[in-house]
Amino acid sequence: MTVNGEFNHDMRRVPTGEFMTPSRKTNGVGVQAEDTKICVVMVGLPARGKSLIAQKVVRYLHWLSIKAKTFNVGQYRRTNTPNPSADFFDTSNSEGERLRRAAAEAAVNDMCKWFAEGQGLIAILDATNSTKKRRRWIQERCDAEGIETLFVESKCDDEDIIMSNILEVKTTSPDYVGQDPESAAQDFRNRIRNYERVYQTIDEDEFDLTYVKLIDVGKHVIINQIQDYLQSRVVYYLMNLHIRPRSIWLSRHGESQYNLNGKIGGDAELSERGEMYARALPGLVKQSVGDSRKLTVWTSTLRRTIATARFLEFEKLEWKALDELDSGVCDGLTYAEIEERYPDDFKQRDEDKYNYRYLGGESYRDVVIRLEPIIMELERSENILIVTHQAILRCIYAYFMNVPQERSPWMEVPLHTLIKLTPKAYSTQEERLKADIPAVSTFREKGSSAKHQEAA
Ligand code: ATP
Ligand code: F6P
Repeated sequence: MTVNGEFNHDMRRVPTGEFMTPSRKTNGVGVQAEDTKICVVMVGLPARGKSLIAQKVVRYLHWLSIKAKTFNVGQYRRTNTPNPSADFFDTSNSEGERLRRAAAEAAVNDMCKWFAEGQGLIAILDATNSTKKRRRWIQERCDAEGIETLFVESKCDDEDIIMSNILEVKTTSPDYVGQDPESAAQDFRNRIRNYERVYQTIDEDEFDLTYVKLIDVGKHVIINQIQDYLQSRVVYYLMNLHIRPRSIWLSRHGESQYNLNGKIGGDAELSERGEMYARALPGLVKQSVGDSRKLTVWTSTLRRTIATARFLEFEKLEWKALDELDSGVCDGLTYAEIEERYPDDFKQRDEDKYNYRYLGGESYRDVVIRLEPIIMELERSENILIVTHQAILRCIYAYFMNVPQERSPWMEVPLHTLIKLTPKAYSTQEERLKADIPAVSTFREKGSSAKHQEAA
Protein backbone atom coordinates (compact mmCIF):
# COMPACT_ATOMS: atom_id res chain seq x y z
CA MET A 1 0.00 0.00 0.00
CA THR A 2 2.47 2.59 -1.10
CA VAL A 3 1.63 6.13 -2.02
CA ASN A 4 2.87 6.89 -5.49
CA GLY A 5 2.66 9.94 -7.71
CA GLU A 6 1.11 13.24 -7.07
CA PHE A 7 -2.29 14.02 -5.75
CA ASN A 8 -3.96 17.01 -4.33
CA HIS A 9 -6.47 17.22 -1.59
CA ASP A 10 -9.36 18.17 -3.84
CA MET A 11 -8.92 15.00 -5.81
CA ARG A 12 -9.88 12.97 -2.82
CA ARG A 13 -13.55 13.67 -2.98
CA VAL A 14 -15.72 12.55 -5.79
CA PRO A 15 -19.06 14.23 -6.39
CA THR A 16 -21.34 13.30 -3.53
CA GLY A 17 -24.98 12.42 -3.74
CA GLU A 18 -26.61 9.08 -3.74
CA PHE A 19 -26.68 8.58 -7.44
CA MET A 20 -25.29 9.99 -10.58
CA THR A 21 -27.56 12.66 -11.96
CA PRO A 22 -27.19 13.68 -15.59
CA SER A 23 -24.22 16.03 -16.07
CA ARG A 24 -21.06 16.08 -18.11
CA LYS A 25 -19.16 14.11 -15.55
CA THR A 26 -18.31 10.51 -15.24
CA ASN A 27 -19.23 8.53 -12.19
CA GLY A 28 -15.98 6.63 -12.35
CA VAL A 29 -17.35 3.81 -14.44
CA GLY A 30 -16.79 5.78 -17.59
CA VAL A 31 -20.41 6.68 -18.12
CA GLN A 32 -20.93 9.75 -20.24
CA ALA A 33 -24.04 10.76 -18.45
CA GLU A 34 -25.15 14.02 -20.02
CA ASP A 35 -28.44 13.62 -21.87
CA THR A 36 -28.27 9.85 -21.67
CA LYS A 37 -31.70 8.34 -21.37
CA ILE A 38 -32.17 4.71 -22.16
CA CYS A 39 -35.37 2.76 -22.03
CA VAL A 40 -34.70 -0.96 -21.77
CA VAL A 41 -37.83 -2.51 -23.24
CA MET A 42 -38.41 -6.08 -22.08
CA VAL A 43 -39.97 -8.42 -24.63
CA GLY A 44 -41.20 -11.98 -24.19
CA LEU A 45 -44.01 -14.31 -23.28
CA PRO A 46 -45.02 -14.55 -19.61
CA ALA A 47 -42.72 -16.51 -17.26
CA ARG A 48 -39.60 -15.87 -19.36
CA GLY A 49 -37.71 -14.13 -16.56
CA LYS A 50 -38.32 -10.58 -17.75
CA SER A 51 -39.08 -9.19 -14.29
CA LEU A 52 -36.15 -11.03 -12.78
CA ILE A 53 -33.82 -9.62 -15.44
CA ALA A 54 -35.26 -6.12 -14.97
CA GLN A 55 -34.80 -6.27 -11.23
CA LYS A 56 -31.22 -7.54 -11.52
CA VAL A 57 -30.25 -4.85 -14.02
CA VAL A 58 -31.62 -2.15 -11.72
CA ARG A 59 -29.74 -3.58 -8.74
CA TYR A 60 -26.51 -3.76 -10.74
CA LEU A 61 -26.90 -0.19 -12.00
CA HIS A 62 -27.71 1.16 -8.54
CA TRP A 63 -24.63 -0.56 -7.21
CA LEU A 64 -22.66 1.30 -9.89
CA SER A 65 -24.37 4.57 -8.87
CA ILE A 66 -26.39 4.77 -12.07
CA LYS A 67 -29.93 5.73 -11.27
CA ALA A 68 -32.41 3.33 -12.81
CA LYS A 69 -36.03 2.36 -12.30
CA THR A 70 -38.39 -0.36 -13.43
CA PHE A 71 -41.83 0.53 -14.76
CA ASN A 72 -43.79 -2.70 -14.50
CA VAL A 73 -46.93 -2.62 -16.63
CA GLY A 74 -48.40 -5.52 -14.63
CA GLN A 75 -48.44 -3.31 -11.55
CA TYR A 76 -50.28 -0.55 -13.46
CA ARG A 77 -52.75 -3.12 -14.81
CA ARG A 78 -53.40 -4.37 -11.27
CA THR A 79 -54.82 -0.96 -10.37
CA ASN A 80 -57.74 -1.57 -12.73
CA THR A 81 -57.76 -5.40 -12.79
CA PRO A 82 -56.15 -6.92 -9.71
CA ASN A 83 -57.04 -10.59 -10.25
CA PRO A 84 -57.61 -11.26 -13.93
CA SER A 85 -58.31 -14.74 -15.26
CA ALA A 86 -56.65 -15.96 -18.46
CA ASP A 87 -59.59 -14.64 -20.56
CA PHE A 88 -58.60 -11.10 -19.74
CA PHE A 89 -55.50 -11.66 -21.90
CA ASP A 90 -57.42 -12.98 -24.89
CA THR A 91 -57.05 -10.38 -27.65
CA SER A 92 -60.68 -10.91 -28.68
CA ASN A 93 -61.66 -9.53 -25.27
CA SER A 94 -62.05 -5.86 -26.19
CA GLU A 95 -62.45 -4.58 -22.63
CA GLY A 96 -59.34 -6.52 -21.62
CA GLU A 97 -57.47 -5.02 -24.56
CA ARG A 98 -58.56 -1.51 -23.60
CA LEU A 99 -57.49 -1.91 -19.98
CA ARG A 100 -54.16 -3.46 -20.94
CA ARG A 101 -53.46 -0.67 -23.37
CA ALA A 102 -54.34 1.90 -20.68
CA ALA A 103 -51.88 0.25 -18.28
CA ALA A 104 -49.09 0.32 -20.89
CA GLU A 105 -49.78 3.98 -21.64
CA ALA A 106 -49.78 4.94 -17.97
CA ALA A 107 -46.42 3.20 -17.46
CA VAL A 108 -44.86 4.84 -20.52
CA ASN A 109 -46.22 8.25 -19.49
CA ASP A 110 -44.77 7.92 -16.00
CA MET A 111 -41.48 6.78 -17.45
CA CYS A 112 -41.27 9.78 -19.80
CA LYS A 113 -42.08 12.08 -16.87
CA TRP A 114 -39.38 10.41 -14.78
CA PHE A 115 -36.82 11.06 -17.52
CA ALA A 116 -38.05 14.60 -18.14
CA GLU A 117 -37.58 15.41 -14.44
CA GLY A 118 -33.97 14.22 -14.73
CA GLN A 119 -34.52 11.53 -12.18
CA GLY A 120 -32.43 8.85 -13.82
CA LEU A 121 -30.57 7.46 -16.78
CA ILE A 122 -32.05 4.04 -17.40
CA ALA A 123 -35.67 2.95 -17.22
CA ILE A 124 -36.81 -0.62 -17.67
CA LEU A 125 -40.21 -1.02 -19.23
CA ASP A 126 -41.24 -4.41 -17.92
CA ALA A 127 -44.08 -5.90 -19.94
CA THR A 128 -44.48 -8.58 -22.58
CA ASN A 129 -44.36 -6.02 -25.44
CA SER A 130 -45.07 -9.02 -27.54
CA THR A 131 -46.20 -7.53 -30.85
CA LYS A 132 -44.33 -5.53 -33.46
CA LYS A 133 -47.06 -2.90 -33.32
CA ARG A 134 -46.59 -2.41 -29.57
CA ARG A 135 -42.80 -2.19 -29.94
CA ARG A 136 -43.08 0.32 -32.76
CA TRP A 137 -45.36 2.47 -30.62
CA ILE A 138 -42.85 2.43 -27.74
CA GLN A 139 -40.01 3.20 -30.13
CA GLU A 140 -41.87 6.21 -31.56
CA ARG A 141 -42.84 7.49 -28.13
CA CYS A 142 -39.25 7.26 -26.96
CA ASP A 143 -37.85 8.82 -30.14
CA ALA A 144 -40.16 11.79 -29.65
CA GLU A 145 -38.82 12.26 -26.11
CA GLY A 146 -35.14 11.81 -27.04
CA ILE A 147 -34.94 8.48 -25.20
CA GLU A 148 -32.81 5.69 -26.66
CA THR A 149 -34.40 2.25 -26.73
CA LEU A 150 -32.78 -1.10 -26.08
CA PHE A 151 -35.14 -4.03 -26.61
CA VAL A 152 -34.31 -7.10 -24.56
CA GLU A 153 -36.16 -10.22 -25.64
CA SER A 154 -36.10 -13.34 -23.49
CA LYS A 155 -37.10 -16.31 -25.60
CA CYS A 156 -37.38 -19.73 -24.08
CA ASP A 157 -39.37 -22.71 -25.31
CA ASP A 158 -38.10 -25.23 -22.78
CA GLU A 159 -41.34 -26.51 -21.21
CA ASP A 160 -39.56 -27.71 -18.05
CA ILE A 161 -38.08 -24.27 -17.39
CA ILE A 162 -41.41 -22.55 -18.02
CA MET A 163 -43.28 -24.94 -15.76
CA SER A 164 -40.78 -24.51 -12.95
CA ASN A 165 -40.89 -20.72 -13.41
CA ILE A 166 -44.68 -20.81 -13.06
CA LEU A 167 -44.45 -22.86 -9.89
CA GLU A 168 -41.59 -20.79 -8.46
CA VAL A 169 -43.04 -17.33 -8.92
CA LYS A 170 -46.40 -17.21 -10.67
CA THR A 171 -48.62 -19.19 -8.31
CA THR A 172 -47.64 -16.77 -5.54
CA SER A 173 -48.12 -13.67 -7.73
CA PRO A 174 -50.53 -10.99 -6.42
CA ASP A 175 -52.71 -11.91 -9.43
CA TYR A 176 -53.58 -15.16 -7.67
CA VAL A 177 -53.89 -14.22 -3.99
CA GLY A 178 -56.03 -16.67 -2.10
CA GLN A 179 -56.17 -19.13 -5.02
CA ASP A 180 -55.09 -22.70 -4.93
CA PRO A 181 -51.63 -23.08 -6.57
CA GLU A 182 -52.72 -25.82 -8.98
CA SER A 183 -55.59 -23.84 -10.49
CA ALA A 184 -53.37 -20.72 -10.51
CA ALA A 185 -50.72 -22.63 -12.49
CA GLN A 186 -53.36 -23.89 -14.93
CA ASP A 187 -54.79 -20.41 -15.41
CA PHE A 188 -51.30 -19.01 -15.94
CA ARG A 189 -50.62 -21.58 -18.66
CA ASN A 190 -53.85 -20.50 -20.36
CA ARG A 191 -52.69 -16.91 -20.07
CA ILE A 192 -49.48 -17.89 -21.86
CA ARG A 193 -51.52 -19.63 -24.61
CA ASN A 194 -53.41 -16.39 -25.20
CA TYR A 195 -50.17 -14.49 -25.56
CA GLU A 196 -48.69 -17.15 -27.84
CA ARG A 197 -51.50 -16.54 -30.36
CA VAL A 198 -50.30 -13.01 -31.05
CA TYR A 199 -46.65 -13.11 -29.99
CA GLN A 200 -44.12 -11.98 -32.58
CA THR A 201 -40.47 -12.53 -31.87
CA ILE A 202 -38.09 -9.74 -32.90
CA ASP A 203 -37.01 -10.53 -36.44
CA GLU A 204 -35.50 -9.06 -39.59
CA ASP A 205 -38.40 -6.59 -40.01
CA GLU A 206 -37.08 -4.89 -36.90
CA PHE A 207 -33.41 -4.67 -37.86
CA ASP A 208 -33.49 -0.93 -37.30
CA LEU A 209 -34.13 -1.51 -33.58
CA THR A 210 -31.38 -1.80 -31.00
CA TYR A 211 -31.90 -5.16 -29.42
CA VAL A 212 -30.53 -8.18 -27.67
CA LYS A 213 -32.26 -11.55 -27.87
CA LEU A 214 -31.49 -13.96 -25.06
CA ILE A 215 -32.44 -17.42 -26.21
CA ASP A 216 -32.76 -20.32 -23.76
CA VAL A 217 -31.47 -18.33 -20.78
CA GLY A 218 -28.53 -16.86 -22.67
CA LYS A 219 -27.31 -20.09 -24.33
CA HIS A 220 -27.64 -18.22 -27.58
CA VAL A 221 -27.51 -14.43 -27.80
CA ILE A 222 -28.25 -12.17 -30.77
CA ILE A 223 -27.21 -8.54 -30.59
CA ASN A 224 -28.25 -5.83 -33.02
CA GLN A 225 -27.30 -2.15 -33.39
CA ILE A 226 -25.91 -1.55 -29.90
CA GLN A 227 -25.24 2.17 -29.84
CA ASP A 228 -23.09 3.26 -26.96
CA TYR A 229 -21.06 2.39 -23.92
CA LEU A 230 -23.88 2.21 -21.40
CA GLN A 231 -25.99 0.00 -23.65
CA SER A 232 -23.08 -2.36 -24.26
CA ARG A 233 -22.48 -2.49 -20.54
CA VAL A 234 -26.06 -3.59 -19.90
CA VAL A 235 -25.87 -6.12 -22.74
CA TYR A 236 -22.64 -7.58 -21.42
CA TYR A 237 -24.19 -7.94 -17.99
CA LEU A 238 -27.25 -9.70 -19.47
CA MET A 239 -25.03 -12.09 -21.37
CA ASN A 240 -23.42 -13.25 -18.14
CA LEU A 241 -26.60 -14.11 -16.24
CA HIS A 242 -27.66 -17.68 -15.58
CA ILE A 243 -30.29 -19.32 -13.37
CA ARG A 244 -28.58 -22.55 -12.38
CA PRO A 245 -28.92 -23.09 -8.63
CA ARG A 246 -25.80 -22.06 -6.74
CA SER A 247 -24.53 -20.23 -3.68
CA ILE A 248 -21.78 -17.77 -2.92
CA TRP A 249 -19.90 -18.01 0.36
CA LEU A 250 -18.15 -15.00 1.84
CA SER A 251 -15.64 -14.93 4.65
CA ARG A 252 -13.20 -12.41 5.95
CA HIS A 253 -9.68 -13.67 6.56
CA GLY A 254 -8.88 -15.03 10.02
CA GLU A 255 -7.94 -12.47 12.64
CA SER A 256 -4.60 -10.87 11.69
CA GLN A 257 -1.79 -9.38 13.77
CA TYR A 258 -2.93 -5.95 12.56
CA ASN A 259 -6.52 -6.67 13.65
CA LEU A 260 -5.19 -7.53 17.11
CA ASN A 261 -3.42 -4.19 17.31
CA GLY A 262 -6.31 -2.23 15.82
CA LYS A 263 -4.25 -1.24 12.76
CA ILE A 264 -5.82 -0.93 9.33
CA GLY A 265 -4.53 -2.13 5.96
CA GLY A 266 -1.11 -3.72 5.69
CA ASP A 267 -0.16 -7.25 4.75
CA ALA A 268 0.07 -8.86 8.18
CA GLU A 269 0.20 -12.53 9.06
CA LEU A 270 -2.65 -14.26 10.88
CA SER A 271 -2.80 -14.11 14.66
CA GLU A 272 -2.93 -17.36 16.62
CA ARG A 273 -6.73 -17.22 16.62
CA GLY A 274 -6.73 -16.34 12.92
CA GLU A 275 -4.67 -19.43 12.32
CA MET A 276 -7.24 -21.47 14.27
CA TYR A 277 -9.96 -20.07 12.00
CA ALA A 278 -7.97 -21.11 8.92
CA ARG A 279 -7.79 -24.65 10.30
CA ALA A 280 -11.50 -24.64 11.20
CA LEU A 281 -12.65 -23.22 7.85
CA PRO A 282 -12.70 -26.50 5.87
CA GLY A 283 -15.06 -28.00 8.50
CA LEU A 284 -17.26 -24.92 8.49
CA VAL A 285 -17.40 -24.97 4.70
CA LYS A 286 -18.23 -28.66 4.66
CA GLN A 287 -21.05 -28.04 7.12
CA SER A 288 -22.52 -25.35 4.89
CA VAL A 289 -21.71 -26.70 1.43
CA GLY A 290 -22.17 -30.43 1.98
CA ASP A 291 -19.97 -33.09 0.46
CA SER A 292 -21.12 -33.18 -3.09
CA ARG A 293 -20.79 -29.65 -4.33
CA LYS A 294 -17.69 -28.45 -6.11
CA LEU A 295 -16.58 -24.93 -5.50
CA THR A 296 -13.80 -22.56 -6.35
CA VAL A 297 -12.08 -20.39 -3.75
CA TRP A 298 -11.14 -16.82 -4.54
CA THR A 299 -8.77 -14.88 -2.31
CA SER A 300 -7.04 -11.53 -2.52
CA THR A 301 -3.30 -11.37 -3.11
CA LEU A 302 -2.64 -10.48 0.55
CA ARG A 303 -1.09 -12.93 2.96
CA ARG A 304 -3.95 -13.05 5.43
CA THR A 305 -6.56 -14.28 2.93
CA ILE A 306 -4.20 -16.74 1.25
CA ALA A 307 -3.23 -18.18 4.65
CA THR A 308 -6.89 -18.40 5.69
CA ALA A 309 -7.82 -20.38 2.57
CA ARG A 310 -4.80 -22.63 2.47
CA PHE A 311 -6.39 -25.71 4.08
CA LEU A 312 -9.38 -25.69 1.73
CA GLU A 313 -9.09 -28.48 -0.76
CA PHE A 314 -10.60 -26.72 -3.73
CA GLU A 315 -9.25 -24.95 -6.77
CA LYS A 316 -8.02 -21.46 -5.77
CA LEU A 317 -7.66 -18.18 -7.56
CA GLU A 318 -5.98 -14.99 -6.31
CA TRP A 319 -7.45 -11.67 -7.39
CA LYS A 320 -5.73 -8.33 -6.95
CA ALA A 321 -9.18 -6.76 -7.22
CA LEU A 322 -10.09 -8.46 -3.92
CA ASP A 323 -7.31 -6.70 -1.97
CA GLU A 324 -8.53 -4.54 0.93
CA LEU A 325 -9.54 -0.89 0.39
CA ASP A 326 -6.29 1.05 0.08
CA SER A 327 -6.07 3.42 3.03
CA GLY A 328 -3.18 5.39 1.51
CA VAL A 329 -1.21 7.43 4.06
CA CYS A 330 -3.30 5.89 6.84
CA ASP A 331 -2.17 2.37 6.04
CA GLY A 332 -0.75 0.74 9.16
CA LEU A 333 -2.34 3.26 11.57
CA THR A 334 -5.04 2.65 14.16
CA TYR A 335 -8.29 4.62 13.93
CA ALA A 336 -7.17 6.54 17.02
CA GLU A 337 -3.90 7.50 15.30
CA ILE A 338 -5.80 8.59 12.19
CA GLU A 339 -8.09 10.76 14.32
CA GLU A 340 -5.08 12.32 15.96
CA ARG A 341 -2.98 12.91 12.81
CA TYR A 342 -5.73 13.66 10.31
CA PRO A 343 -8.69 14.93 12.39
CA ASP A 344 -10.44 16.62 9.45
CA ASP A 345 -10.15 13.50 7.35
CA PHE A 346 -11.39 11.37 10.18
CA LYS A 347 -14.47 13.57 10.46
CA GLN A 348 -15.03 13.72 6.71
CA ARG A 349 -14.92 9.95 6.47
CA ASP A 350 -17.57 9.66 9.15
CA GLU A 351 -19.74 12.18 7.34
CA ASP A 352 -19.60 10.44 3.99
CA LYS A 353 -17.80 7.15 4.29
CA TYR A 354 -18.84 5.86 0.86
CA ASN A 355 -17.29 8.78 -1.00
CA TYR A 356 -14.38 9.60 1.27
CA ARG A 357 -11.10 8.75 -0.44
CA TYR A 358 -8.06 8.22 1.79
CA LEU A 359 -5.17 10.50 1.00
CA GLY A 360 -3.27 8.51 -1.64
CA GLY A 361 -5.74 5.67 -1.30
CA GLU A 362 -9.28 4.66 -2.16
CA SER A 363 -12.91 5.27 -1.29
CA TYR A 364 -15.67 2.67 -1.15
CA ARG A 365 -16.86 4.12 -4.46
CA ASP A 366 -13.44 3.37 -5.96
CA VAL A 367 -13.59 -0.16 -4.59
CA VAL A 368 -16.97 -0.82 -6.20
CA ILE A 369 -15.54 0.19 -9.56
CA ARG A 370 -12.61 -2.17 -9.26
CA LEU A 371 -14.92 -4.95 -8.08
CA GLU A 372 -17.14 -4.74 -11.15
CA PRO A 373 -15.22 -7.49 -13.05
CA ILE A 374 -15.52 -9.65 -9.93
CA ILE A 375 -19.30 -9.22 -9.93
CA MET A 376 -19.44 -10.02 -13.63
CA GLU A 377 -17.37 -13.17 -13.07
CA LEU A 378 -19.54 -14.11 -10.09
CA GLU A 379 -22.66 -13.82 -12.23
CA ARG A 380 -21.13 -16.20 -14.80
CA SER A 381 -19.92 -18.68 -12.18
CA GLU A 382 -21.55 -21.30 -9.99
CA ASN A 383 -20.39 -22.06 -6.42
CA ILE A 384 -17.70 -19.67 -5.27
CA LEU A 385 -16.19 -19.08 -1.84
CA ILE A 386 -14.54 -15.68 -1.46
CA VAL A 387 -12.05 -15.11 1.34
CA THR A 388 -11.47 -11.41 1.45
CA HIS A 389 -11.41 -8.25 3.59
CA GLN A 390 -13.93 -6.17 5.52
CA ALA A 391 -14.49 -3.35 3.01
CA ILE A 392 -14.43 -5.65 -0.01
CA LEU A 393 -16.87 -8.04 1.57
CA ARG A 394 -19.22 -5.15 2.36
CA CYS A 395 -19.22 -4.06 -1.29
CA ILE A 396 -19.86 -7.57 -2.65
CA TYR A 397 -22.54 -8.16 -0.03
CA ALA A 398 -24.16 -4.82 -0.91
CA TYR A 399 -24.47 -5.91 -4.55
CA PHE A 400 -26.28 -9.14 -3.72
CA MET A 401 -28.40 -7.77 -0.90
CA ASN A 402 -29.16 -4.40 -2.49
CA VAL A 403 -27.76 -2.39 0.43
CA PRO A 404 -27.76 1.38 -0.19
CA GLN A 405 -24.51 3.32 -0.29
CA GLU A 406 -25.13 5.27 2.87
CA ARG A 407 -25.42 2.00 4.79
CA SER A 408 -23.01 -0.44 3.08
CA PRO A 409 -19.71 0.96 4.46
CA TRP A 410 -21.15 0.82 7.96
CA MET A 411 -22.28 -2.80 7.94
CA GLU A 412 -20.91 -4.99 10.64
CA VAL A 413 -19.14 -8.01 9.16
CA PRO A 414 -17.62 -10.02 12.01
CA LEU A 415 -14.43 -12.02 11.71
CA HIS A 416 -14.58 -15.84 11.87
CA THR A 417 -18.01 -16.03 10.26
CA LEU A 418 -19.02 -17.74 7.02
CA ILE A 419 -21.83 -16.05 5.11
CA LYS A 420 -23.79 -18.05 2.55
CA LEU A 421 -25.76 -16.16 -0.10
CA THR A 422 -28.17 -18.06 -2.34
CA PRO A 423 -29.75 -16.11 -5.21
CA LYS A 424 -33.46 -16.86 -5.57
CA ALA A 425 -35.96 -15.60 -8.15
CA TYR A 426 -36.48 -12.10 -6.77
CA SER A 427 -34.18 -11.99 -3.75
CA THR A 428 -31.05 -13.44 -2.18
CA GLN A 429 -31.24 -15.76 0.81
CA GLU A 430 -28.67 -15.38 3.56
CA GLU A 431 -27.32 -17.75 6.21
CA ARG A 432 -24.47 -17.11 8.66
CA LEU A 433 -22.30 -19.73 10.31
CA LYS A 434 -20.09 -18.58 13.14
CA ALA A 435 -16.92 -20.44 14.08
CA ASP A 436 -16.50 -20.85 17.79
CA ILE A 437 -13.20 -18.97 17.78
CA PRO A 438 -13.08 -15.53 19.39
CA ALA A 439 -11.69 -12.54 17.49
CA VAL A 440 -11.38 -8.81 18.02
CA SER A 441 -14.04 -6.59 16.56
CA THR A 442 -12.68 -4.32 13.82
CA PHE A 443 -16.01 -2.53 13.56
CA ARG A 444 -16.15 1.16 14.40
CA GLU A 445 -19.58 2.68 14.51
CA LYS A 446 -20.30 6.01 12.85
CA GLY A 447 -19.50 8.86 15.20
CA SER A 448 -18.07 6.57 17.85
CA SER A 449 -14.75 6.98 19.59
CA ALA A 450 -11.79 5.64 17.65
CA LYS A 451 -10.77 3.42 20.51
CA HIS A 452 -9.94 -0.14 19.59
CA GLN A 453 -12.11 -2.66 21.44
CA GLU A 454 -11.57 -6.32 22.12
CA ALA A 455 -14.52 -8.54 21.14
CA ALA A 456 -16.38 -10.31 23.91
P1 ATP B 1 -44.57 -12.03 -16.64
O1 ATP B 1 -44.67 -11.66 -18.08
O2 ATP B 1 -45.70 -12.88 -16.17
O3 ATP B 1 -44.35 -10.87 -15.75
P2 ATP B 1 -41.74 -12.66 -16.57
O4 ATP B 1 -41.23 -12.95 -17.95
O5 ATP B 1 -41.49 -11.31 -16.03
O6 ATP B 1 -43.28 -13.03 -16.51
P3 ATP B 1 -40.49 -13.62 -14.19
O7 ATP B 1 -41.56 -13.26 -13.22
O8 ATP B 1 -39.28 -12.75 -14.17
O9 ATP B 1 -41.12 -13.77 -15.64
O10 ATP B 1 -40.06 -15.13 -13.99
C1 ATP B 1 -39.07 -15.46 -13.06
C2 ATP B 1 -38.64 -16.86 -13.36
O11 ATP B 1 -37.96 -16.91 -14.62
C3 ATP B 1 -37.63 -17.36 -12.32
O12 ATP B 1 -38.05 -18.65 -11.93
C4 ATP B 1 -36.31 -17.42 -13.07
O13 ATP B 1 -35.52 -18.51 -12.63
C5 ATP B 1 -36.72 -17.61 -14.51
N1 ATP B 1 -35.84 -16.98 -15.50
C6 ATP B 1 -34.92 -16.03 -15.30
N2 ATP B 1 -34.30 -15.71 -16.46
C7 ATP B 1 -34.87 -16.47 -17.41
C8 ATP B 1 -34.67 -16.57 -18.83
N3 ATP B 1 -33.76 -15.81 -19.46
N4 ATP B 1 -35.44 -17.46 -19.51
C9 ATP B 1 -36.35 -18.21 -18.86
N5 ATP B 1 -36.59 -18.15 -17.52
C10 ATP B 1 -35.86 -17.30 -16.81
O1 F6P C 1 -9.63 -3.28 10.22
C1 F6P C 1 -9.63 -4.23 9.23
C2 F6P C 1 -9.81 -3.63 7.83
O2 F6P C 1 -9.87 -4.69 6.88
C3 F6P C 1 -8.73 -2.60 7.42
O3 F6P C 1 -7.59 -3.14 6.84
C4 F6P C 1 -9.51 -1.68 6.47
O4 F6P C 1 -8.91 -0.40 6.30
C5 F6P C 1 -10.82 -1.58 7.21
O5 F6P C 1 -11.07 -2.86 7.77
C6 F6P C 1 -12.00 -1.24 6.31
O6 F6P C 1 -13.10 -0.96 7.14
P1 F6P C 1 -13.59 0.59 7.41
O7 F6P C 1 -13.90 1.04 6.01
O8 F6P C 1 -14.79 0.41 8.29
O9 F6P C 1 -12.49 1.40 8.02
